[in-house]
This record gives sequence, C-alpha cells and structure tokens, in this order.
Amino acid sequence: MFERFKEDIQAIRDRDPALRGTWEAVTAYPGLHAIWIHRLAHGLWNRRLYWLGRMFSHFGRWVTGIEIHPGAQLGRRFFIDHGLGVVIGETTVIGNDCTIYQGVTLGGTSWSPGKRHPTLEDDVVVGAGAKVLGPFTVGKGARIGSNAVVVKEVPAGCTAVGVPAKLVKCGEANAQVSDRAELAQRIGFDLYGVTAEMPDPVTRGIEAMLDHVRELEKQQAELRALAERLEKQIEATSVAADRPTGTG
Ligand SMILES: CC(C)(COP(=O)(O)OP(=O)(O)OC[C@H]1O[C@@H](n2cnc3c(N)ncnc32)[C@H](O)[C@@H]1OP(=O)(O)O)[C@@H](O)C(=O)NCCC(=O)NCCS
Repeated sequence: MFERFKEDIQAIRDRDPALRGTWEAVTAYPGLHAIWIHRLAHGLWNRRLYWLGRMFSHFGRWVTGIEIHPGAQLGRRFFIDHGLGVVIGETTVIGNDCTIYQGVTLGGTSWSPGKRHPTLEDDVVVGAGAKVLGPFTVGKGARIGSNAVVVKEVPAGCTAVGVPAKLVKCGEANAQVSDRAELAQRIGFDLYGVTAEMPDPVTRGIEAMLDHVRELEKQQAELRALAERLEKQIEATSVAADRPTGTG
C-alpha cells in the first residue's frame, strides 16, 4: 500500500515542476486526495457496498471538486492536475501513467446501462477542459488537446484537438516518446520534459541512445528466441538419433 502512495507522489514529482516537496503533494494536491478517496470508494463498490461507495465518492467530490464514480477503474501513477471540475464516469477504465487536467469529462452519451464511458490506455494525456464522450478507446500514448470534444476512438500515439476532435498528428512522434519514456523508466532514468519536438542536442543524444538500447533489446530477444528454437531442434534430433532403429 505504501508503495502505491509513494508512486502516486512520484507521479506528481515527475509531471508537475511546480511541486516543491512531498509534504506539499500530500497536503495541497486535490487530485491526489481524490484518487486516495476513490481507492476507498472503489473497494467498497467492489464489495457491493454501493451506497457507502457512493458516499465516499460524494465526500471526495465535496472536498476536492473532482467527481469520480466509485465504479471507475483507475490505473497506477494516475495524475489529476488541479482537478476542479473533473468528472469520471462509472464505466471508465484508465491505464497506467495517464494525466488529466482540470475540467476534463470522461463521460457517456447513452442512457443505457453497460459500458458507456471511455477507456484510456497507458500514458494518455487529456488537456484541460477536454470532453471524451463514449465507450471507445483512446490508445496508448495519445494526447487530447485542451477543450477538445472527442467522440470517437483515438489511435495509439495520436494527438486529437478541436470540436469535434480531429487527429492532427499520428504515430511515430508520440508513440516514440511514449516508448522512450517506458524504457527510461525501466532503466531508472528520469526523462521528464523530453518531447518529440525538443531541438536540444543533449536531448537528441539521449533519445538516440534510448532508441539504440531499444534496438539492442529487440535483437537480444530475437537471438534468445532463435537460441531456444535451435536448442529444441538439437534435442529433437538427439532423441531421434538415440531411438533404436529396430533393424538389429
Ligand atoms: C494537444 C497538446 C497535448 C499538444 O500535443 P502535440 O502532439 O505536441 O501537438 P502540437 O503542439 O505539435 O500541435 C499540433 C497542432 O495542433 C494544434 N493544437 C494544439 N493544441 C490544441 C488545442 N488544444 N486546440 C486546438 N488546436 C491545438 C497546434 O496549434 C498544432 O497545429 P498546427 O500543426 O496547425 O500548427 C497540447 O497542445 C495540449 O493541449 N495540452 C494540454 C495541456 C493542458 O491542458 N495544460 C493545462 C495546464 S494547467
């Protein structure tokens, strides 16, 4: 449990340069309070204590201005910055490392029960005031511009802006940034603030290094798979060679 608290705070450190220290995060970040209260509410909801779950969620809304339905599923290291006016609906699913800002609605467009709110995959950013409406998926590493109204799927690594939201940038750039961030985190390197458009030569150097490490990891995985296949083939051949032929 303390691990989760620590990574919640680390997520703010990584994504909000305005933060001065842990105590400030714990005492003055309504997004953090909302997530902690939601964890309690969600636990109650999953134990079928629906009214109690709703009450915790209502209390959370009262003290933070952020409304998260107790049924919503939130991933790890989720960060709600500022948070006032955020609404997250019952059947919303949010992956790991997502960030949303004040005034975001993850809502539905239908009154029928069942899945009616969006699913955000890992590493999605939703800008201030954006509305994401419907039971579709916003793919890994996608970016939603502030004040956009998104009513259909956003593919992984794309940027969607405007009303209704249109894709302005796709694939390569964002997906690459997301891949690098994942690798950097895995090897314990802080990639804070590095974006696809950074002209800084040192940043470019680090990006090239991370891409090279990724390529090496890929080749290593291919070699390992090949070695395993060869091992199996050798085993099969030696078993066949050991088998009595029945001629003697
Ligand atoms: C969309 C966003 C994530 C940028 O993503 P990006 O992939 O780096 O995209 P770019 O900045 O290269 O912009 C791509 C295009 O979309 C336009 N654009 C960016 N954000 C936009 C928005 N919110 N609404 C409309 N158009 C927008 C840009 O002007 C650019 O247009 P152009 O190609 O005609 O010049 C960013 O603009 C954004 O809205 N972030 C949210 C931040 C936020 O809410 N902060 C609140 C802090 S309190």
